[in-house]
Amino acid sequence: MRYKIVTYGCQMNVHESEKIAGLLEGMGGTACADGESADVIVFNTCCIRDNAERRALGNIGVVKAEKKKNPGIIIAVCGCMTQQEGAAEVIRERYPYVDIVLGTRNIFALPGEIEKVKKARAAMKKRSDKRYRAFDTEYAPDYLDRDERTPVTRTSFPNAWVNIIYGCNNFCTYCIVPYVRGRELSRPMDAVLDEVRRCVDGGYKEITLLGQNVNSYGHDLSGGESFERLLRGIDRIDGKFRVRFMTSHPKDLTDGVIDAMACSDKICSNIHLPVQSGSDKVLKDMNRRYTRERYFALTEKLRAAMPDIGITTDVMVGFPTETEEDFADTTDLVRSVRFSNAFTFVYSPRKGTPAAEMPQIPYAVKRRRIGELIKLQNAVTKELSENYVGNVYEVLAEDVSPKHEGMLCGRTESGRLATFPGDAGRIGEFVKVRINEARSASLFGVTED
Ligand code: 5AD
Ligand code: SF4
Repeated sequence: MRYKIVTYGCQMNVHESEKIAGLLEGMGGTACADGESADVIVFNTCCIRDNAERRALGNIGVVKAEKKKNPGIIIAVCGCMTQQEGAAEVIRERYPYVDIVLGTRNIFALPGEIEKVKKARAAMKKRSDKRYRAFDTEYAPDYLDRDERTPVTRTSFPNAWVNIIYGCNNFCTYCIVPYVRGRELSRPMDAVLDEVRRCVDGGYKEITLLGQNVNSYGHDLSGGESFERLLRGIDRIDGKFRVRFMTSHPKDLTDGVIDAMACSDKICSNIHLPVQSGSDKVLKDMNRRYTRERYFALTEKLRAAMPDIGITTDVMVGFPTETEEDFADTTDLVRSVRFSNAFTFVYSPRKGTPAAEMPQIPYAVKRRRIGELIKLQNAVTKELSENYVGNVYEVLAEDVSPKHEGMLCGRTESGRLATFPGDAGRIGEFVKVRINEARSASLFGVTED
């Protein structure tokens, strides 16, 4: 059985696809690069913004032709998109060639459903016989237990993704995530520590802890677990490796976590801290539960504890209540904080969320604002990049450079991407790199050892 997984969206999904691969390999599957020779195609979807959803649906549409050529193919759709209200019905009606639809908390049902589809097909006497199709987007009540037993086929060496908490309880008014990924569920701390230990023993050099809001880790456990305690526990694991985590919610980032980061050689001085907006009014309307002052104070604390820290963020423009003044507050914040990088988004109404019910801002206004914001952040990024030139940094060789032959790429502790000469055999090594050129977000250098 050859399989192909098409992944959309965030790192959480990238890792979820490693679990899907683990499940498929557990039933004898092997990965194949092109869809044409696949026996099973899985679409692991995202619905955070309209364009993510449209892209997935477009590509699911394309496999219709594939299925005509190769009727034996099994097509499965899973991930966030399937969990939206009415989504499974839309797929049932408009994408009749999709065989299996699973939600975000029952992916382990995939092997069983594939077997059922195969069996039903073998039993079909005529083409007109009723096909077996699976639509199951119920949250498994024993999700955490089942998840612990789900095999993982890692595909991102030398980085290993490790989930620590699933779901989100925050209900930011623009966001679909709490509706499609359910309430927060923390993995037991021992299970996380064990997994990290196994990854380090297995040669992984970077551990990235994942959660929609890693800072709320442990509040649903009974032994006083917290993100700070988890970080300190991971720091005590022997070996040379790096730790990163995402995503942090500014309202829950504690002094203890900042201290644990600052005291550790393993936990990188790097944080992704989505601000979304620089306007107190918009933050309130978004239900973010912090003010711009509190955000400034956090970034100051982080920098006082770790002067070289790289702070990245997510910023959104065009939230329904955002006026020109509010947008000016956002550009002012972006100018003052000096993020090493910012992911910028145009607000996209998501059905079922409170903000989607508010009067919307014209697209032309959103487009102008995003253009301005991107231009501003690019200038900041470029300026900050120049500070790296002439210095030597420890970089983890992560991959061959996709653009430059004979070169490798990897990140500094602060999270900056650097490109330097080297061959694939060095992937997974920590390399000293002297930076000699900065081109906007990317750094170029030569190895020192
Ligand atoms: N529209 C645009 N951007 C969104 N994000 C979340 N929901 C939406 C939406 N409806 C952005 C936020 C979040 C990032 C992962 O995606 O900035 O931090
Ligand atoms: Fe969405 Fe807010 Fe939860 Fe992040 S914290 S996943 S933006 S609801």
